Amino acid sequence: TDAYETILVERKGRTALLTLNRPKALNALNLQLMNEVVAAAEALDRDPEVGCVVITGSAKAFAAGADIKEMRPRSYMDMYLEDWFAAWDRLGRVRTPTVAAVAGYALGGGCELAMLCDILIAADTAVFGQPEIKLGVIPGIGGSQRLTRAVGKAKAMELCLTGRTMDAAEAERAGLVSRIVPADDLLAEALAVADTVAGMSAPVAMMAKEAVNRSFETTLAEGVHFERRLFHAVFATADQKEGMSAFVDKRPPEFTHR
Ligand code: CAA
Repeated sequence: TDAYETILVERKGRTALLTLNRPKALNALNLQLMNEVVAAAEALDRDPEVGCVVITGSAKAFAAGADIKEMRPRSYMDMYLEDWFAAWDRLGRVRTPTVAAVAGYALGGGCELAMLCDILIAADTAVFGQPEIKLGVIPGIGGSQRLTRAVGKAKAMELCLTGRTMDAAEAERAGLVSRIVPADDLLAEALAVADTVAGMSAPVAMMAKEAVNRSFETTLAEGVHFERRLFHAVFATADQKEGMSAFVDKRPPEFTHR
């Protein structure tokens, strides 16, 4: 993790904190930052000592979008052959739960990165939007799809067509964020949520994440079927016996994460 230049990675017990760190560009997501975030997230995902990953930015900007200066000169063939942004899809396939802790601007790719995470906690200073249209482009890291699923057609269409942004309160009302906290408390609150998740059985948390994410990909009947199969499968874990025994014994569970 020492080799990264655009992000910082710290371990706090079973929680890992990944901080976007290009302050001069408001954490604009250039190729290097994308590759470092994805590599770090995949490395943390492989580490059995990590139970949750928090992704955050600065007080001013979670991320102000993909890097406009890097994209500006590129042609269709450049974007197609380099498969621009494809690496971000790998972040969505990480099995360890992820928490986005968003303060300040989460615009364009920044909003899309936050939406790639499993839990989205916003500071009261957060600003969300997909302003790509103002640059003559459209979202490219899933914004038109994930924003629409999160807040519905009405707001997603308005945001994508006008570039208007949403403040934290509107984003919470619309269902984009799970909750809003005072900016000074953002990191502590996000880390506390992450510690809670990281304290659960790791394989069971992965299955819970997989089950919720399945709802975006399938019909209700198939989704319930998938959930039922996973539900039966958790009875193969040691942590199911521990969790239920701890309840019966009136003591806190000590999960082995297996
Ligand atoms: N790409 C590259 N550089 C960026 C950037 C971006 N997305 N956003 C900000 N920066 C740079 C600025 O160019 C500026 O650099 P210089 O000091 O070298 O001029 C520096 O960061 C500070 O930015 P500002 O001076 O603009 O700061 P501000 O406080 O006045 O404004 C802002 C903040 C409203 C967020 C403004 O920076 C802004 O509008 N940024 C662009 C937002 C945007 O359009 N995002 C979408 C990008 S396209 C995309 O994301 C495609 C996709 O779907 C993935």
